[in-house]
Amino acid sequence: MSRSAHPAGPRHADVLPEGHYSAPPADLNALDPKVWARTVARGADGVVTVGGVDVNTLAEQHGTPAYVLDEADFRARARAWREAFGQDADVFYAGKAFLSRAVVRWLHEEGLNLDVCSGGELATALSAGMPAERIAFHGNNKSTHEIRRAVEAGVGRIVLDSFQEIVRVAHVAQELGRRQRVQIRITVGVEAHTHEFIATAHEDQKFGIPLAGGQAAEAVRRALQLDGLELIGIHSHIGSQIFDMSGFEVAAHRVVGLLKDIRDEHGVELPEIDLGGGLGIAYTSGDDPREPHEIAKALTEIVTRECESARLRTPRISVEPGRAVVGPTAFTLYEVGTVKPLDGLRTYVSVDGGMSDNIRTALYDAEYSVALVSRTSDAEPMLARVVGKHCESGDIVVKDAFLPADLAPGDLIAVPATGAYCRSMASNYNHVLRPPVVAVHDGASREIVRRETEEDLLRLDVG
Ligand code: LLP
Repeated sequence: MSRSAHPAGPRHADVLPEGHYSAPPADLNALDPKVWARTVARGADGVVTVGGVDVNTLAEQHGTPAYVLDEADFRARARAWREAFGQDADVFYAGKAFLSRAVVRWLHEEGLNLDVCSGGELATALSAGMPAERIAFHGNNKSTHEIRRAVEAGVGRIVLDSFQEIVRVAHVAQELGRRQRVQIRITVGVEAHTHEFIATAHEDQKFGIPLAGGQAAEAVRRALQLDGLELIGIHSHIGSQIFDMSGFEVAAHRVVGLLKDIRDEHGVELPEIDLGGGLGIAYTSGDDPREPHEIAKALTEIVTRECESARLRTPRISVEPGRAVVGPTAFTLYEVGTVKPLDGLRTYVSVDGGMSDNIRTALYDAEYSVALVSRTSDAEPMLARVVGKHCESGDIVVKDAFLPADLAPGDLIAVPATGAYCRSMASNYNHVLRPPVVAVHDGASREIVRRETEEDLLRLDVG
């Protein structure tokens, strides 16, 4: 790898254009434990290691770009969620954040359940041995084929998202001679403080059945009448990357209110409520997420309090964290290809991936951190923008970041907190090959999802 000197870009003292950043960190070589996976550390030689393996070795063995996932951290976070909620609640990991067979096995071993939202996720879960009764099947437009597979497999619950689906699932279950356990997803009218595209419980969007106007109550009426369905509870998911618990408080209040109305009208107390996922993680040092035990305590207290005042038995609670389990456990390792200082602006650092491995910056204006990981540097900070190799100017991975001014082609840089919604939303734009997911544990690395090859691409191209 070349370590050639390079003309330094604009210094922070020279110019600070508009951006997300505040000021350069005191020490560019420091790795804030808030945003990096737990076993990440800088070795005495200055090279960053994870799970006891250094990034230069990882790059040699697996190439770049690569998602590098800290298995011990994943298991520890999964366990923390499980333990925080205890025996009277269920934790369903949201597979959409990142799913692979190894992940399914880890979840199974750590005692978590799994939320899937497509036939593909269901197939992955079943093929890795997740017991069907521990799977919840989600989605706002499940096909009849998907519903049939889920019912046949014996999934623990299907979360119903529309009036049509209530009838569809009942029909399939009856045809198969089953009684399918279901929840109804409602929208409680909460505006979660997050990006518009990832907020889901306000009324003007596609998910769930609105509580407002009595639609949710009508959905319950219909579900209770159908022989193929066993209505076990109400589901609410208010959005993603949320730090403020007040949205959950309002959601719990409204869900419990519906449970009370159901008891009053039908004489049944539904035994479960699901409050969804959406808990935020730290992408930058400025983010302050809550720990699972604090979240569990807060949610349990809210539900218990609401049920006491409604004189209802407290239902079994379930939650569906995705990002909060897997997000912090991985970083994306890139090799720097070009370093382009633009006078009076910033330095553009091009890496060997981009919006095909992390679309979140382009899609949600997401903020990320970045660090030079293959060595330390004493150079002063330069204001940088990390960009990819795709053919458009919006191909930005890290919009504003400080990197050392001696950064050069061949250096390895890493973007932390890319475990969630990066590999799972990756694309082949420009026929760029999707990176592998490399799990690192106890001094060893292995690919749990291999790098895509040109043969993989061409295999689908049958014209
Ligand atoms: N449960 C349901 C019903 C969901 O729709 C979701 C996420 C989750 C749980 C998990 O949410 P989490 O705990 O991971 O925030 N692509 C976006 C996020 C979309 C989330 C969709 N649903 C992103 O990259 O931020």
